[in-house]
Order: sequence, then C-alpha cells, then structure tokens
Amino acid sequence: MLSEPKKFIRIVTDYLLAEDRPIDFNIYTKPAKSNKPLLLVAANTKIADIKKILAQKSHGPLFITQESAQKFENFMEQSLDSIIRNSAVPLEQKSSIVHACATNIIRDIFDDPRSGRNISRAKAITSNIIDLTLADAQSIRHLLRLGSHDYYTFSHCVNVAVFGVGLWLMIHKGDDTDLLDFALGCILHDVGKTQILDTILNKPGKLDFEEFEIIKKHPGQGHWLMAKHTSETTLDVILHHHEQINGNGYPHGLKEDQISDNAKIATIADVYDALTTNRPYGGARRPISALTLMKEEMVGHFEQKRFEEFILFLGGRSA
Ligand SMILES: [Fe+2]
Ligand SMILES: [Fe+2]
Repeated sequence: MLSEPKKFIRIVTDYLLAEDRPIDFNIYTKPAKSNKPLLLVAANTKIADIKKILAQKSHGPLFITQESAQKFENFMEQSLDSIIRNSAVPLEQKSSIVHACATNIIRDIFDDPRSGRNISRAKAITSNIIDLTLADAQSIRHLLRLGSHDYYTFSHCVNVAVFGVGLWLMIHKGDDTDLLDFALGCILHDVGKTQILDTILNKPGKLDFEEFEIIKKHPGQGHWLMAKHTSETTLDVILHHHEQINGNGYPHGLKEDQISDNAKIATIADVYDALTTNRPYGGARRPISALTLMKEEMVGHFEQKRFEEFILFLGGRSA
C-alpha cells in the first residue's frame, strides 16, 4: 500500500535566528524549479550550524511537515519571553514574531474555544504583548502595521488588544494592575462568535432582524465559554464590549457609569478596528474617515473623553 504524501507548511526564519534553543523538528526547502522539498536542517542540529545554514539567503523558502506543526508552534511560543528580552533582536522582528504567534493562538481558540491549553496560550501571549509594549511603546505601531487589512476574526482580536493596551496605558499611566486581565478580555472579546453560523457572520449584505438578534448573543456566549477560565475583569470586557453610553447597546443596554472603563476602551478599539479593515459588508476606511464616522454618526455610542484620548493615542501623543 502507498503511504500518504507528506504535507508541508511554509515557515519564516525569524524565530530560529533569534533564539538559542535546539529545534526538535526538521526544516525543508524547495529548490527553484522543483516541487519536491529537500531536507535542509535536521532536528537537533547544533544551533551555530543552523544559523549558518539559515543565514544563506540562497536556500529558498522554508517548510516543516504538517506533523511537526505542533512542535514548531511550541518552539515559537516558548521562545517569546527570551526573544522579547533579547536586546540584539530588532523591535520590528520581535513585533512580527509576537504577532505571528498571537494570530496562531487566536485561530486555535476559535477552532476549539473550550481547550484549556488554548486559553493558557492566550494568557501567555497577552502577557507577551504587554511586555513588548511596556519595553518599547513603538512596538504598538509595528504590531498594528502587521495586522491583516482583511477582517479575519483572529487578526481583529489581536488588533483590538493592541489598540486597547495602547489606550489603556495612555490613560492609566504606569499603573498596570488590571492590564493583563483587561487585555485578555480584548483578545477574547469575540470568542462567542464561534457559536454563530458562518453564513450569518460573513453575510455580505445587511443582516435582517432575526440574524442581528443572533449576532447580539455573542457577548453572552463568549462570557459563558470563558466563565470558568478567566477573571471578572476579563469577563466584563467580553460581555460588555457592545454596550453604548446612551443605553442603545447590547446585551444589557447599560448606560454611562453602568459600563466599566475597561469595556468603554474595548468598545472604541473594537469599532475602530472593524471600520479600518475590509469586511464582508464594506471596504476598509482610512483612519480619518473612520474617526469622522465614529464622531458624527455614532453620537452617544462612546464616552467622549475616552474617544478624544483615543484620537490623541492614534496621533502618537499623550493625553
Ligand atoms: Fe463583538
Ligand atoms: Fe470585535
């Protein structure tokens, strides 16, 4: 009987060049004019030799086998702490590694939102995003630049966390007591959408009344999914990221001071990111157009002071 042909996944070398740990997976390359991957670096090769091989740009694109994807993912995520601390790694490269891991983790959470391992990974990557941001505020710009311009839910979740952390830090200046729990809420804010049919989530036209009623359940469903795994602060952001100051939001129609400051910040980050990326029902707006729409057509949606601070944050200034 013939064995199944191996499946290959393309990888980037950033992780490997920035880390000093041995790898436990093979790396392959595909020479030009050939479709057959060749073994380039075998598992357990000495680090110095790996770096020498990978530094030669002529090797072409790099691949791992599908079977070693989990080992590669573990390697990346376990390398993050030391990569962030490593002053020899440029900020841009650190940001791209953190962003790639974050997007991966969110994708896995959306595939399996009840997995304890995935939730632990989400907590770890949230902490990595905060560490990177605290080490150098410029990383926020890099992380945002790396976000997809298309509305993939997992990229959106990372962006909302990055916008949220940036605004939170500007407001709270040096006090990061609740920051981790808040940022985790931002990362997980739309996890309830895993319980909604793709045909409704990705519908190109306007949603009818019943479809919108279904969409409105996602904050509650996210809260239910995460109730046993996260703190009250995190759950509050998940449950209330669609509330509005004027009471017209959902699921509870809370008003003004009934809404926590954390939820108010997450709401602004969520709407802004949704408006500035391509979605099934509309193209991406430029930043100024998104802010104008939020100011003029969404009156009563956001808390004015926080919205003004967000504009200052985007302009790279402190309030
Ligand atoms: Fe949402
Ligand atoms: Fe969202």
